[in-house]
This record gives sequence, C-alpha cells and structure tokens, in this order.
Amino acid sequence: MKKSFVYGVAVDGENFTDRVDESRRLIRNFENGQNVILISPRRMGKTSLVRHVITKVDTSIVAVVYLDIYDCRTEYEFYNKLVSALLKQTSNKGELLLQNIKEFLTRLTPKISFGPDPGNEMSVSLGITPRDYSPEEILQLPEKLAQKIGKHIVVCIDEFQQIGSFTDSIALQKRIRGVWQLQQNCSYCLFGSKKHMLADLFQNKRMPFYQFGDILFLQPIPTADWTPFIIRKFEEKGQKITVDQVARICDTVENQSSYVQQLAWNVMLCSDTEVSDGAIDTAVNDLIDQNSLLFIQQTEGLSQYQLNFLKAMAAGETDDFTSAEVLKKYNLGSKSNISRIQETLIKKELIEKDGKSVRFADPVFRLWMLR
Ligand SMILES: Nc1ncnc2c1ncn2[C@@H]1O[C@H](COP(=O)(O)OP(=O)(O)OP(=O)(O)O)[C@@H](O)[C@H]1O
Ligand SMILES: [Mg+2]
Repeated sequence: MKKSFVYGVAVDGENFTDRVDESRRLIRNFENGQNVILISPRRMGKTSLVRHVITKVDTSIVAVVYLDIYDCRTEYEFYNKLVSALLKQTSNKGELLLQNIKEFLTRLTPKISFGPDPGNEMSVSLGITPRDYSPEEILQLPEKLAQKIGKHIVVCIDEFQQIGSFTDSIALQKRIRGVWQLQQNCSYCLFGSKKHMLADLFQNKRMPFYQFGDILFLQPIPTADWTPFIIRKFEEKGQKITVDQVARICDTVENQSSYVQQLAWNVMLCSDTEVSDGAIDTAVNDLIDQNSLLFIQQTEGLSQYQLNFLKAMAAGETDDFTSAEVLKKYNLGSKSNISRIQETLIKKELIEKDGKSVRFADPVFRLWMLR
C-alpha cells in the first residue's frame, strides 16, 4: 500500500504542499545569480524545497547542481564531492562526463563505474588530493564549467554547517568566499539544519560568510495550507477528518512539517471511516512513543540542573528563570547558573532563544517532557 503521509525523507510531487512564495523567491534568486542562504529548524522542509525548486527553474538558462556534505569530514572530502556532483550533474551522458573530466582535471586518473543497466547511475571516484590541485583551482571549477556549458550554474550545498567543523575552518571559509564572490557565472545556495551554527556562519560580522547572500528563514507551513492537503489524503482512503481536527494536528506539533505528516499518518492508522477526537489522543501518544528513544538519548548526559530547567520550561516558564521563586521551585541552583544552563541546552539543540524568552526546539520533545 502506498503511504498517504511521508516523513523523514525529502518529499516531492503529490507529497509536497504549499511553499509557493518560498519557491518563487528561490527560483528568482537562482535565475538571477543571487546567492541564497536557507535556514530553519530541523525537518521543516529545506531539502524538499530546494529539490522542488530544482525541478522548476528555467533549465535553458541555469543548471542546478545539488550536493549534501553531511558525511564530509575534511576540506578535500568536500572538494571531491563538489567536483563529482558538478561534473556528473552537468553531463547527461557518460561520454560527456569522461570528456569533462579529461578537460577539467587533466592531472587525475579517476575511477568511473556504471550500473549494470543502461541509464543507471554512474559513480565517479575522483580522488583529488592537495598534491593534484590547490583549493583555489578546485573552487574555480564551477565557473569554468559554467562558461563552457554557456549557462549559469547554481550549486546547492545541503548541511553546509558541516564546514564549520573542518580543521582551520575560518581560514577555509575565507578561502572559499574569496573565490566564490568573484565568480560571474555561478551562484550558491547554502543550507542546513543546525540553526545556531548556520546563524553563526552567516550572521556574525566577524565570519567570512557574513552577508554572503539573501537569507531566507524557512517558516512552518501554515495550517490553512495543510488543511486541504490532509483532508484530501484522508478522502483518498475513504476517511473523513474535520477542519478542526486538522488544526489540532498542526497545533500539537507547532506545524513542524515532518511531525505534521507523521501525526496525520498515526491518526489515519487509528481511524475507521470517521476520525474521532479519541483517535487523535491515541495518535499523539504514539507519536511521543515513536520518538522517545531519541529523546532519552538526547537527555542522557544532562546534569540535574539542566533537566530541571527543561522541566521548568515544560511547565510553562518562558523567561523569568532567575527569580528567587522559580530558582527554588524547580531547583535550578544559583542565579548565575541560568545562562550557563541555557548555553549548553542551545548547543545541544534542545532549546532555542529569541531575545529573552526560550522555547523548545522540538515540539514533540516538549510533549515528552510534559508526560
Ligand atoms: N512542502 C512540504 N509539503 C509536505 N510535507 C513536507 C514539506 N516539506 C517538508 N515536509 C515534511 O517534512 C519532512 C522533512 O522534510 P525535509 O527533509 O525536506 O526537511 P529538512 O528541513 O531538509 O530536514 P533536515 O533538517 O533533517 O535536513 C518530510 O519528510 C515531509 O514529511
Ligand atoms: Mg535536509
């Protein structure tokens, strides 16, 4: 049976909804050579959005290349991934790929293998090392390739925050930005999930990527846009769900995209032809259970004070943690403790801070803490 709701992987086609304005803005940026930075909390839909946009841009003027650097640990792992994505995704045929490799990487003898069937994925292992090519030469490659194919190239780099963990990261970022900002025929779309790391990379005046491009903070998909999507999916299975019930699903998970789909799927599983409010209760409980293993892991190493702080938040405290009453009620230690606790919890991505007030990064984590 085809699953009505999909979560945990990037979605497209009939599983992708809304994002009309965001898509338009990205398409405009891509087609006009404007660099873009896309930031959001986890699982909000960055990868899905960019992949969606890739299918919509005018391919007669731009070629979009997508890569995910989640598993890159070093500068040259990143370069290898960048170059092979570039060459592969701009060459529709194997011969062209070979030709491009010969033309652009004369100092290499790469390994290329093809799948067993025609039209299958080719896999390229370039093995570029610092002995073969300097970083600057590699970073210039997109520009040279763009000139050759006569199109603007947009390079989309997913999980870009990974760069921040490479050795000598700041020097590397300076090097990359130095080359990229002079390029005429390529632009970049950089995005990822670790919000505080990305914010530091792009919004900190002292960092090389400060003001590199148009920053887009991806917001949750509004309930009004989820409503027709979810109602239709239920109808397709001969089930009825009301507008209010959809709103409850969205509210429960604060419209976080992946959870909306997961919870809607849970609701569908515990319902017959008509969704009852009781079924939603059960589905919410299931959702908490399904995620609890992860939450246990995330809280395992926390100190008692840090746990108490999370409990205080779950109980509804939002800002005044340093008052004598709150400190005592939740056993948070001394007043000077609070900012340190918050800092650690922000680093661990459990909470987020806007101005003075803090909130849980993950809406289901909050429900789990409450339970
Ligand atoms: N436009 C959309 N329409 C419907 N569902 C969506 C949409 N965008 C995201 N989702 C839901 O959210 C899930 C996560 O999407 P995606 O992987 O694109 O997010 P992400 O922000 O890239 O996540 P991560 O932080 O893990 O990289 C999808 O599996 C899907 O359930
Ligand atoms: Mg993603």
